[in-house]
Amino acid sequence: MTNGPRGMPAPPPREEDDADSHVRFVYAALLFATVGGFALAVWLPVQAALGHVGLSWVALAQVHGHLQVIGFAGLFVLGVATKLAPRFGGGHLVRPRLVDAAFWCAVAGLLARALGQPLATQMPFAALMMAGALLELTGTALFATSIALTLWPSIVRGAPHALLMTAGMVWLVVQALLGAIWLGQIAGGDTNVLRHDRDILLVTLQFYGFLLCVFSGVGLRSFPSFFGMPQPSLRLGRAAFVLLQGGLLLWLGGGLLMTLGVEAGRPTDAGQVLVGAAILALVSAFGWWRRETRLAVASQPLAWPLRATLVMLTLTGLLLGTTGVDAFVRDEVVLTVRADAVRHVFALGVITLGIVTMAQLILPEFASERLVHPPKKWRGVALGSLLVAAVVLRGFVPLSGVDATVRSWSMAGGGGLGLTAVAAFGVLFHRARRTHVAYLKRVAAWRTRALPTTDDSPPARRDAPPL
Ligand code: HEM
Repeated sequence: MTNGPRGMPAPPPREEDDADSHVRFVYAALLFATVGGFALAVWLPVQAALGHVGLSWVALAQVHGHLQVIGFAGLFVLGVATKLAPRFGGGHLVRPRLVDAAFWCAVAGLLARALGQPLATQMPFAALMMAGALLELTGTALFATSIALTLWPSIVRGAPHALLMTAGMVWLVVQALLGAIWLGQIAGGDTNVLRHDRDILLVTLQFYGFLLCVFSGVGLRSFPSFFGMPQPSLRLGRAAFVLLQGGLLLWLGGGLLMTLGVEAGRPTDAGQVLVGAAILALVSAFGWWRRETRLAVASQPLAWPLRATLVMLTLTGLLLGTTGVDAFVRDEVVLTVRADAVRHVFALGVITLGIVTMAQLILPEFASERLVHPPKKWRGVALGSLLVAAVVLRGFVPLSGVDATVRSWSMAGGGGLGLTAVAAFGVLFHRARRTHVAYLKRVAAWRTRALPTTDDSPPARRDAPPL
């Protein structure tokens, strides 16, 4: 055992802290989503439909993207990673103090960036934006260090789920570093908008480097068992990992060359096609098309939104592949409107729907809720349906080539549905959290009694998530 201060034995692992490590991340993520990212997701397309698009609209679109990807999806995924990485690594969260510091750096950084960027042509706000970018860089580096150390035993064994999660953390730091450098170059100048080619490269790394890699790592471990598939072979997992990282490196390399004015459309397109192929390889192991599920009876109603999430992942793979091949053959880069629509199929259909569904399956708050007040069967389906409708309006209608005004109103409708679903999920999480805390108090009180009676004994936890 390691020694604590002055030769005293080190304190035991912080079990309760570990158990609740995700909570503040989840609350912060839901606040960034409802007050920031999804609110802008309604406001931006309404302004576009009314023809009010200028530089400040573009700056706010970049703020929307950042709040959604890093504030909402990022914080949520990082919070859940603090619970899953110890299970995947076979121990406890290593250096939890790094995660504490990372959380506050990320929250302060996001707030500073969101407040600073829209007014960054004035010096104090430019400084605020830069402070935000540097805090985010620090926070992501601290977080990635703790998660990589926690996953280390599985990384050295070459376990694909650990490699994918760690790669996701590395991409998170890479995009934060590039973001800080490029924001530094506009800070104090006469614009508050990142150049389009740089901005899109950052967004690509955030979506397919960070979010896709972490989602795939978690999925590789859990989805096959949800749908009664055998655990994927190491060979398949490692091949998908190599394909995905190869595609991302090619995409990043091509994108960087293009920011330097070098014509590199084809490598960029090829990188996108490889990422699409890696998604399809991963999906082939998930088994979402099988009739049976191995979910506990109380969780069965979530099978539908879970399948919908994986159908959306399959569509993302197909769309990345086909739009990439099409652009490659024509020796062009993928059209902006198409790339943006595919990103939103992934953002809403895979990430947002995945967050809302997986959280209900794996977070302890919802497990306690199922024991104490089992939710209505239609709840998961209703939330899932709202989000699927949002994907259609935000992702598929714009892909169908409708005119710009119809596209904007369709997006605004999608934004309204997305905001409703995420706000409703926030209320449900808060209610489940209160139920969970009360349940744990009851269990603790029951344990301290010498002779518990059978009628007030807390029910046993029978539906632990199959992770
Ligand atoms: C239905 C909900 C949503 C709507 C209506 C919406 C709307 C928009 C709009 C209008 C833009 C600007 C597109 C342009 O520049 O032409 C945009 C960009 C973006 N959105 Fe969304 N969005 C939604 C959900 C999301 C979600 C859930 C995420 C991520 C988890 C996300 C991430 C982004 C990103 C990264 C960008 C690019 C920002 C940039 O240019 O830097 N969006 N979105």
